[in-house]
Amino acid sequence: MISKTHARTPADGPSIDHPTPLLGGLSPAQFMRRHWQKQPLLVRQALPGVQAPIDRLALAQLAASEDVESRLVSQSPGDRWSLRQGPIAKLPAWSKPQWTLLVQGLDLHVPAAHELLSRFRFVPEARLDDLMLSYASDGGGVGPHFDSYDVFLIQVSGKRHWRIGRQGVATTGTLRDDVPLKVLADFEPEQDFVLEAGDMLYLPPGWAHDGVAVGGDCMTASVGFRSPWRGELANELLVRLTDEDSEDGQRSPRDRMYADPKQLATEAPGRIPDELVAFAREAVLKAVAQPLALERALGEALTEPKPRVFFDAGEALPEGAAVQLHARSRMMYDAAHVFINGASFRAGGRDATLMRRLADRHALTSAEVARLSEGARDLLDQWAEDGWVVPA
Ligand code: SIN
Ligand code: CO
Repeated sequence: MISKTHARTPADGPSIDHPTPLLGGLSPAQFMRRHWQKQPLLVRQALPGVQAPIDRLALAQLAASEDVESRLVSQSPGDRWSLRQGPIAKLPAWSKPQWTLLVQGLDLHVPAAHELLSRFRFVPEARLDDLMLSYASDGGGVGPHFDSYDVFLIQVSGKRHWRIGRQGVATTGTLRDDVPLKVLADFEPEQDFVLEAGDMLYLPPGWAHDGVAVGGDCMTASVGFRSPWRGELANELLVRLTDEDSEDGQRSPRDRMYADPKQLATEAPGRIPDELVAFAREAVLKAVAQPLALERALGEALTEPKPRVFFDAGEALPEGAAVQLHARSRMMYDAAHVFINGASFRAGGRDATLMRRLADRHALTSAEVARLSEGARDLLDQWAEDGWVVPA
């Protein structure tokens, strides 16, 4: 009924088994086996001829906007660091050394940044986070630190001197308490290299790194990932699972109030009754045990747009149109559902196959759109009106 997704990268790019310059001649499959979450990889000319997705003036404009997350890190003589959170109305002079502007989520605003991020869709979309672009003047950087997430650091203009070490992998590393950033007090670099435009460095979580701009106009794009913490995920899912039980303030008919007709008089009124503990355990287990409820809550959580993400309303699709997912849309699926921007739909048969294709490739041809059932086509029109998909 539902065909298996074939082993190709989603955007009809090269096969995941095909060696690619992006990964230094490894195929995505080899890269994932040998390096992902395991070993750094330096790739010279991963993206030959790469251009910065945006120039410094346009980047400065974005950093000044309320809708964009940005930070300015500056260093002054005496190893003094300062951090300013955006919006940043005025940047230091381009010629002033040792400052860095970091702009998060550039892929949501700049098509070229979205395209760059899409090159890494051999990793599940559930793990992809965003593309951050940094602009540094000569000597600028954010100091030696380690991140909890995998990152591809792509030099898109100018040069950056990177030093890396496995510090955070084995130990937590001591952080300096005199700086407003997470800067390692005792960074012990093991390798170093200068990256030029087109070069790329992949780092697994926990690898300490320090990148310092060599000369001005140094721009580095970071393709970042996200990885849920078990406790945080449980918290988010339980909120969603139990919200469904009391939608619109109406209590679900499945809900039940604790009752204790057998409670005896007690001389230890401070003690929580065992029956209430059992009731609490059952409440949590019941919420999780609803068929497909956990799957639905997870898909909705993973595709929920970030707080500052908004869509401009569009129009229903013209007849015969091909369709494309809007760069801000997050679309995923599981065995029973299709999820888009925090909403879930049950899908089966041909509609499911086509919707999954839209999630994998971010596009459907006009012939594919024409094969959707009337109900699925209406849904696609609704998504177009919401600005979630656009005519291609
Ligand atoms: C930068 O682009 O300056 C910092 C990126 C990072 O170290 O994660
Ligand atoms: Co970092």
